[in-house]
Amino acid sequence: MALHFSSACFRGLGHSRIHRVRAVASEGSATLITDEEKIKLGGSDLKVTKIGIGAWSWGDTTYWNNSQWDERKEKAARDAFNASVDGGLTFFDTAEVYGSKFALGAINSEVLLGRFIKERKKRDPGAEVDVATKFAALPWRFGRQSVITAVKDSLSRLGLSSVELYQLHWPGIWGNEGYIDGLGDAVEQGLVKAVGVSNYSEKRLREAYEKLKKRGIPLASNQVNYSLIYRAPEENGVKAACDELGVTVIAYSPIAQGILSGKYGPENPPTGPRGRIYTPEFLTKLQPLLNKIREIGDKYDKTNTQVVLNWLVAQGNVVPIPGAKNAEQATEFVGALGWSLNDDEIAELRSLASKIEPVVGFPVEKL
Ligand SMILES: NC(=O)c1ccc[n+]([C@@H]2O[C@H](COP(=O)([O-])OP(=O)(O)OC[C@H]3O[C@@H](n4cnc5c(N)ncnc54)[C@H](OP(=O)(O)O)[C@@H]3O)[C@@H](O)[C@H]2O)c1
Repeated sequence: MALHFSSACFRGLGHSRIHRVRAVASEGSATLITDEEKIKLGGSDLKVTKIGIGAWSWGDTTYWNNSQWDERKEKAARDAFNASVDGGLTFFDTAEVYGSKFALGAINSEVLLGRFIKERKKRDPGAEVDVATKFAALPWRFGRQSVITAVKDSLSRLGLSSVELYQLHWPGIWGNEGYIDGLGDAVEQGLVKAVGVSNYSEKRLREAYEKLKKRGIPLASNQVNYSLIYRAPEENGVKAACDELGVTVIAYSPIAQGILSGKYGPENPPTGPRGRIYTPEFLTKLQPLLNKIREIGDKYDKTNTQVVLNWLVAQGNVVPIPGAKNAEQATEFVGALGWSLNDDEIAELRSLASKIEPVVGFPVEKL
């Protein structure tokens, strides 16, 4: 839940290159994903695909979807889910607060993901899906039991008996030790296979890692805002600490909420809350970087989105989880894998990106 959104689509973008994606398996049967195509999440036994899919926008009416959710959008989200599975991206990230029950017209993202999984498994029992969801550290939640209660509620919405990854969505104002104990309890009770945190600073990450380690439970991941134009994890010690401890960085908002796709510009900024963050001024400053991304992409016959996701994967120990609203977006993510930018291109992109002042992130990452 960072501070960004909108619901623009591909119309009028003027980039036919968006349609150039790697061919994927035919609809209706899951691609066979070998273990080599997956990576281990931190020190846990859990293996997930190198890119996951974010489900924040599914059912949400507070930040995404122009404040409205309807059957057409649900169909597009279902298509995104199926296209991801067809393309071999089977790791999905949701949260109990996505599609909040307090938001008018919203449907909970866990409910939708659970629905899509059930439908898929009915016609394709062998389909592989790994689910990550998150605990909201709300100020009135205390102690380890609050984590167990929340994960059971999430499982009930998802219609599953366990999830692959359970994460603390952000650090609490208090109660953090109890939350970490609760994560350990969830593993021991077989409710979750692996545990992680999100928006954790280096200090909090190290504390959580040590506390779980005493129980013999690895901290699998830290999910943070990380993209070519938001490189705080490289600057605040989080990425280095994750690499040192063997904790996987899960990169959220990896295409800067659609901005790095190149479809928005000073003349057509995103609408809704995203437009307040990615202003025409910001988008003007972004143009040299977007041009370079496009130039490099042309060399590989890849789109901007595929280039920036490939750049993140190239940092090592990073699993990006871009959000897909429809099948076309999900299919495009598949083409971010199976090739590599070279070292010069990786460095050139970082160098150009470093000339751009980052937008304000989710304040909880500084807690
Ligand atoms: N832990 C946290 O605090 C936290 C915070 C934020 C996000 N997350 C997780 O990270 C996931 C991804 O982050 P995000 O959704 O904020 O940002 P993102 O993945 O950088 O951007 C997603 C948005 O970009 C646009 N898009 C997607 N594919 C595209 C393509 N191929 N071409 C052009 N535009 C495309 C879509 O919006 P439009 O079509 O409307 O442009 C889409 O909703 C979330 O779903 C959530 O699971 C976690």
